[in-house]
Amino acid sequence: MNTSVTAPKVVNISDLRKLAKNRLPKMVFDYIDSGADREQTLSQNCSAYKEIFFRPRCAVATASCDLGTSILGERFKLPFLLAPVGSSRLFYPKGEVVAAGEASKAGTGYTLSTLSGCRLEEVKNATNSPAWYQLYLLGGREVALKTIERAKKAGFSAIVVTIDTPVSGLRERDLRNGTKELLSQNLFTMLPYLSQIITKPCWLVDWLSDGGLMQFPNVELEDGPMGYTEIGPALEQSVVTWDDLKWIREAWQGKIILKGIHIADDAKKAINLGVDALVVSNHGARQLDSVAPTIRVLPEIIDAVDGQLEVLLDGGIRNGADVVKALCLGAKGVLIGRAYAYGLGAAGAAGVARAIEIIRTDILRTMKLLGCDSVSKLDRSFVSIPEQWNKF
Ligand code: GLV
Repeated sequence: MNTSVTAPKVVNISDLRKLAKNRLPKMVFDYIDSGADREQTLSQNCSAYKEIFFRPRCAVATASCDLGTSILGERFKLPFLLAPVGSSRLFYPKGEVVAAGEASKAGTGYTLSTLSGCRLEEVKNATNSPAWYQLYLLGGREVALKTIERAKKAGFSAIVVTIDTPVSGLRERDLRNGTKELLSQNLFTMLPYLSQIITKPCWLVDWLSDGGLMQFPNVELEDGPMGYTEIGPALEQSVVTWDDLKWIREAWQGKIILKGIHIADDAKKAINLGVDALVVSNHGARQLDSVAPTIRVLPEIIDAVDGQLEVLLDGGIRNGADVVKALCLGAKGVLIGRAYAYGLGAAGAAGVARAIEIIRTDILRTMKLLGCDSVSKLDRSFVSIPEQWNKF
């Protein structure tokens, strides 16, 4: 293990965040760290976990604890997977390949974002564990159909369709940092913001050695891969609707996971359309601000679904206790995003491995302290939640 990310320097995810802030240009760090608008949901996604209290069973021997879970028939050694995180190749050379490889070593899954800087085939080759492909319809149906074929051939085991992005959320920090301008390849446009990059020489050397400005090779437009600055308008022209699920299902013919469920009605629609699993997600608080924290709406969704499909959750998870709380409330597993992205930005493979290890050991310790020897035995009796969480 790279000693720059071991204890006592790195004890928790917040320590990895600090290291990422040191290594990355402001615009890259803020791309990971920020949320939409006033960032209300960004902070509440995390703070809501503090409203849940554990109800431990003491004097229980838990010499060994089973942290494994099955999701859609696939076995994972950990109850958390890596969430899709766009532009990871900006954080570290071949970022998506690196993160997928570390997920695999830990025996867990990786979800590749459409907005990836690495080709999906290369990412799949980096992992022996199940990998999922997160789909945006950027470039339209024909472009998506080509990617779906590639994902199928490469061996991705599920498609994750994100449904909360009819337009990109307003991330104020990205605007202030000139993120679009810095990636414009036009020196005149970049000039006012260049100091962010030249003051981070380690990152700059890594970035240039990895080829510099990345494109999105999994969005193959007629004139080549989609460029970085085209995302905003492209997202707006490619809204995913419930009708799209039909042709996506026909083309994919495999498991479909819907990501971006906030309310019981949408969960029920997902069931009626034959979706296989859903992710209670507010896109890491990067889309509509002032929506409820995901952990707060999980009980509503679990009740609505009533066991008819598997429910996952993302948003705000920064330690193992957060994972255990989500499992107690009925999630089959969770996805972590920023928690590993900070690790990737801080130290590449070593940072991702450290993020996974921090959360894994937290979960193990929490389970033992709770007096429970298997994550499959966690249920609502292990936590108390505010009374109003069952109402909306
Ligand atoms: C992409 O999905 C993003 O949130 O940046």
